Amino acid sequence: MKSALGADFLSSYDIIISGEAIYMKTYEEIRNCFNAIKNNIITCNELDSDMFNYRTYPEWLAVYKKRSMGIREIYKKNTEMVEIINEYLKKDLNDEELLAFYQGYRELEDRNLHDSYLIISIIDKLIPPYEARHDYEKLLHLYTDSCYELGCFLRLDDKSLERLKKDLHRIKNLRFHYKELSSIRERRLIYVAYYNLIKTLPEYSPKYNEDIIPMFKEAKAFYQTEDIKLMGDQEFARHEGNLLNIMLLHSFMYYLDDGLSQQMEYTDLIDEIKDTFEDEMDTDLCNAVLNYFHDQMNDEEFVYYLKNYLGFYFGEANSLTFNESFDEIFVKAENLFNTAFMFYDFLCHSYLSEEDRKRESVFVTEAIASFLKRIPQDKYNIYFDEAASTLIRKAAPFIKTISEKERLLGDILVKNQPNNYIHAKMVEKLSLGILDYLNRANDLLLNQFYQIGFNNYNELRDYVARGARLHDLGKSLSTGLITQQIRSLTPYEYSYVKMHPEKGLSVVGKDKEFAPYFDIMIGHHKDYDGKNGYPLSFDNTKSKYKIVIDLIRIADAIDAGTDVYGRNYSTGKNFDMILAELVKGEGVKYNPYLVEFIKNHSDLLNELRYATIDGRYELIYNSYLKQER
Ligand SMILES: [Fe+2]
Ligand SMILES: [Fe+2]
Repeated sequence: MKSALGADFLSSYDIIISGEAIYMKTYEEIRNCFNAIKNNIITCNELDSDMFNYRTYPEWLAVYKKRSMGIREIYKKNTEMVEIINEYLKKDLNDEELLAFYQGYRELEDRNLHDSYLIISIIDKLIPPYEARHDYEKLLHLYTDSCYELGCFLRLDDKSLERLKKDLHRIKNLRFHYKELSSIRERRLIYVAYYNLIKTLPEYSPKYNEDIIPMFKEAKAFYQTEDIKLMGDQEFARHEGNLLNIMLLHSFMYYLDDGLSQQMEYTDLIDEIKDTFEDEMDTDLCNAVLNYFHDQMNDEEFVYYLKNYLGFYFGEANSLTFNESFDEIFVKAENLFNTAFMFYDFLCHSYLSEEDRKRESVFVTEAIASFLKRIPQDKYNIYFDEAASTLIRKAAPFIKTISEKERLLGDILVKNQPNNYIHAKMVEKLSLGILDYLNRANDLLLNQFYQIGFNNYNELRDYVARGARLHDLGKSLSTGLITQQIRSLTPYEYSYVKMHPEKGLSVVGKDKEFAPYFDIMIGHHKDYDGKNGYPLSFDNTKSKYKIVIDLIRIADAIDAGTDVYGRNYSTGKNFDMILAELVKGEGVKYNPYLVEFIKNHSDLLNELRYATIDGRYELIYNSYLKQER
């Protein structure tokens, strides 16, 4: 009996222990993965900021090489971690595993370590089980984080926008569980969802305009509910109600046509809101908006108001010592960007002269550019890349000439995306290196270049140089998200990278001055024979600029292939290995005449070899000196 009891006891003990062991194993394994990713990203940021702490070239070079090695190690480790995470994501998760995932990704979010695609796939996995468990607090964060990743970082396409809308609706529907949300910090997210439905979503697409008024009415009704009183949130709801009014005014101003605006008796609304303004922070702006509606202000005056408003935030941002927490920097940056975006929206709709609009647009971009330049490397993240890209797209219609636009891109975007900037400069250097040799050798191939229609060599050279600098412009819209990931890309991310040729065109718009560069931007990943590469829809073999595309494709392949240190994912080949690949791809992937020319000129080969090793270091060093903060 005793022994049987003992055996029973032992066997149940065994089960508990092994169950416990399994639980510990999976829970801890998941937690360890997230911790490793988190610490790796932090290390990576530290390695990046070290780059600014050395002044002499040899010192800098040593730090640079150390950083590159470190980042490549991290890249491998993070790829492994993400693989483990993805394996778990394919399985059914038990409660502990779900919790490990929830805690893990929330920690990344809390520290602003964004890996949007990874986080969205985790959120997708967690939503159904937590919905089944009616865990409203977790759901609130899951939906909100999904919106945050989509709205702040992805902003890609119609599908993402629909997802964003769906998530916003899911958040606001949690108002029926208002009492079950433990803190005001959490309950507040419901109010924020309403703002986003009224103001942010219509900013992305006019198809959401008709939701503005129903959502406003619904929110107002919600603010009166018993649950809010029960939780003692009336004062809070009143304050949020005022903010909601401001959001509505903003949408009236930019997104609603008169027909829709008339549905609300908005003059009454404005009178009501007017009384509540005094105690709100946004007084200047709201006055300006109100006055606009009351026709008491012309466009110049309105610009003056908005400029004052921007000047206020800009003054604050410039007084930042950057010792502040990231949150403080982020809040100021967000205000700056939002005001700037509003400024541009207004310019688009204003009756100011073209010259005035351009002057104002330059004012805003310069203000933002100098703010961006002051952000220390370790505080700089993909949010700023995305915001800068949006700013450029909004500024584009006002800045017409190609050199001004290049300067704008350089000031706002490229300097903060060092890998893109250096790649563009390298491709320029390598293309010109080859072109100059063709010119010196007076090679017959030059005729093909001149047939495009250049009057002299300088014109041709300038064209190739700018084409090289602009060829990957589209990558500037995805850098933070994708090309700076310290892990291997998912198939979806890779397919997004492949959209960069088309995206380049969307940055420079339909500007005629950029037209001669479109074929380079869109065609530089097509094979020489036109049969493979991307995008398939573009036929490079019919392009007037074919020979330049061929040249840039070769320079591109040399830089991308030999960049041992800059590219996280590069396998790091040397120049001669790439040369062998060029020769192998002659006539199919690469222009055979250009490859033969390069191969047969040993001085040129030496020059290119040098450019891909010490030449690249010098270029990067100089670009770091320029970025000195
Ligand atoms: Fe490219
Ligand atoms: Fe490229």
